[in-house]
Amino acid sequence: TRTNEEEDLPHATKKTMADHLRKFETLFTLTPQRMRMIVDAFTESLEIGLESPGQVVPMIPTFVFGWPSGHETGEYLALDLGGTNLRVCLVTLNGGGKFEITQSKYRLSEEQKHDDGQKLFNFCADCVKTFIDSNIGNSEEMIKSGVKLPLGFTFSYPCSQDRIDHGVLLRWTKGFSAPNTEGQDVTALFRKALEDHKVPVDLVALTCDTTGTLIASAYVNPKTKIAVIFGTGCNAAYMETVKEIPKLKDHGFASDAEIAINCEWGAFDSYKHEHLPRTKYDVVVDESSNKPGEQAFEKLISGRYLGEILRLVICDLIDEGVLFLGQNTYKIEIPYSLDTAFLSLMESDPTDELLMIIGIFTHFFALETTLAERQFFRALAKLIGKRSARLSACGIAAIVKRKDLLDEGCSVGADGSLYNKYPGFADRVHEGLQDIFGDKGLNIVTHHAEDGSGIGSAIIAAMTKQRKEAGLY
Ligand code: GLC
Repeated sequence: TRTNEEEDLPHATKKTMADHLRKFETLFTLTPQRMRMIVDAFTESLEIGLESPGQVVPMIPTFVFGWPSGHETGEYLALDLGGTNLRVCLVTLNGGGKFEITQSKYRLSEEQKHDDGQKLFNFCADCVKTFIDSNIGNSEEMIKSGVKLPLGFTFSYPCSQDRIDHGVLLRWTKGFSAPNTEGQDVTALFRKALEDHKVPVDLVALTCDTTGTLIASAYVNPKTKIAVIFGTGCNAAYMETVKEIPKLKDHGFASDAEIAINCEWGAFDSYKHEHLPRTKYDVVVDESSNKPGEQAFEKLISGRYLGEILRLVICDLIDEGVLFLGQNTYKIEIPYSLDTAFLSLMESDPTDELLMIIGIFTHFFALETTLAERQFFRALAKLIGKRSARLSACGIAAIVKRKDLLDEGCSVGADGSLYNKYPGFADRVHEGLQDIFGDKGLNIVTHHAEDGSGIGSAIIAAMTKQRKEAGLY
């Protein structure tokens, strides 16, 4: 028997929505057994990355040696070029794990992500200058009197480093494609911009957001062993012993020294796609991206892609004639028009009628929905969000295995919009860890980390200064 609502509207019925949901449940659900297989392949990839340069998961030595003492002090500028915003911070480290921060955010336009690389760094230099002029003092006068402020640059894209204040961009990720940047030393491009724009700063360290998060998190919580970012992109860092990194064997570092590794794990399973469960929607996300084949793990997990995966499922059902018959669907057919923030909202809608979901579809896509459809969208969001969290658990588990941390347990410092804003994300990661490791999975706990790209970058700049003063590099 059909309800009146279903007879009146040319929409999918409750029954067909339930049938479709079952199909998607099978597609997007990860069993514990499958997760364990992924973890084994992942651990192997991490180890291959440590062996020699140029591997799929690059396991980049960051030249950040060891943990902070918590006694680092001083004033530092930090510049954060992440995936969405540009941020300039003035950080005062007071020692004892205490700090103060003043910051300004600048929005990056889509155009800037694809315009010439030098222009992007010129914009960065300009923002730093504006920030100095309004928060610290007259930059022109500082230049004249030779004053230079130390700056840590958080550049969250894979860069291979052979010093802390240098880094060659291996490839753009997260949808960036600025020409004349890949294969270049980004610190040289940025230094040129600083000079041309007469900005009184000294670039002392180049870091990634994950490395910054690892250090900032350890500064306040010494149980931290791993840091993970779940934001526009997804990546992790942890501390490795030099003698366990075959590709560093000719560098002459003390074999028992510790060095932070920026895993760039978003690249896991790229190109060959042997281990991750990709649906046809994931294949479309990949193939229509500006970097087909690359960042295979990240494309199943991070905030840049989750909304797009849901949108593609919806568009498929529109094509099959299941959804929105008789309505104009052009708005939802625009790539990337369904933001991951909508998935968070859909999952957290507290009303029986799912009023927030009504709002999303009417305001953003000019589409009417039935309750059965809204329940279906919410269930789909949950499947996609859950898969993202469970795959993230696989990555964390791979590092835990690699470092043999399961029995002693550890804290995982986590940051990023997905981790901080997506309802239940952390709980799902923890559940995933238990599915992989059983009760021992409870020993691995994620927590919201300190701001790695601001505070972390400043601490790394301070650690670098201390090493230089001690005659090390
Ligand atoms: C991308 C970048 C990586 C960064 C991550 C999170 O994966 O390649 O460097 O850490 O996004 O921002």
